[in-house]
Amino acid sequence: MVTAVGTAVTGLAVGDRAFGFALTGAGTYATDTLLLGSATARTPDALSDEWAATVPVAGTTALDVVDQLALPRGGRLLVNGIGGGVGLAVAQLARAGGLEVIGTAGVTKRDVVTGTGAAFVDHRAPGAIDRLRAFAPDGFDGVVDLVGGASLRAVAPLAATPRAVVSVGDPTVGEVGGVVVERHTDRRTLERVAALMVQGVLDPHVTAVYPFDRAAQALARVEDGHATGKTVLDLSTRGQRGQ
Ligand SMILES: NC(=O)c1ccc[n+]([C@@H]2O[C@H](COP(=O)([O-])OP(=O)(O)OC[C@H]3O[C@@H](n4cnc5c(N)ncnc54)[C@H](OP(=O)(O)O)[C@@H]3O)[C@@H](O)[C@H]2O)c1
Repeated sequence: MVTAVGTAVTGLAVGDRAFGFALTGAGTYATDTLLLGSATARTPDALSDEWAATVPVAGTTALDVVDQLALPRGGRLLVNGIGGGVGLAVAQLARAGGLEVIGTAGVTKRDVVTGTGAAFVDHRAPGAIDRLRAFAPDGFDGVVDLVGGASLRAVAPLAATPRAVVSVGDPTVGEVGGVVVERHTDRRTLERVAALMVQGVLDPHVTAVYPFDRAAQALARVEDGHATGKTVLDLSTRGQRGQ
């Protein structure tokens, strides 16, 4: 729920559900907080708060990646680290755009990855890079990296051209000729992602919901680096839910 300040800016009324970016320009968790008016949107009636909470960071990042690559239908896209919050969203948006998607993830994520219509490759299996190369012997039209470091450097040469490598989390991607995702955090982008969810194009794959007083466990789950989909904090509950 929003306590409206500057309704002319946000288009929101007192009592509307809303989602967006905090004043830090990123996420937050608190029972009361301030959102940037230009980066706040009304939550559609058909969208749950749990799903809306996943839009600002993971959802808009995935949309930015797919927009930035702007690959034509039939293009081949490699998603390195496909089983996390951004990766599963990229997979669904890319599939909706007619792309062939191949993704790397740990074995526990096989079903959720293939459920998006993407092909799955276990990143820990021997010969994983050769298996990936077999999907696109002439090079992938796009490579989205969500892991960084040595893993980014292992998959970057699989791109048809270095500029087709887009990293979301590793600013050193320029060293292999690639680019960092260009982020858009405005209301229009928030609304586009929310609409894709309402239309059934995008499922954020919320795999855990924690009550507010278990925020530390929620953060630990994410910091582990191997989460599946999204972890959500439910600020309306204390000690009632969570896994
Ligand atoms: N620039 C931005 O605005 C922005 C926005 C959002 C996120 N990010 C960054 O982008 C990255 C991804 O975000 P996220 O939310 O999707 O993270 P996440 O939910 O933690 O997912 C990362 C996924 O990568 C997998 N992974 C780890 N090592 C791997 C490897 N060597 N090869 C393949 N997969 C591997 C993990 O599990 P398994 O190994 O079990 O498969 C996990 O599913 C993070 O670094 C995040 O900080 C940046």
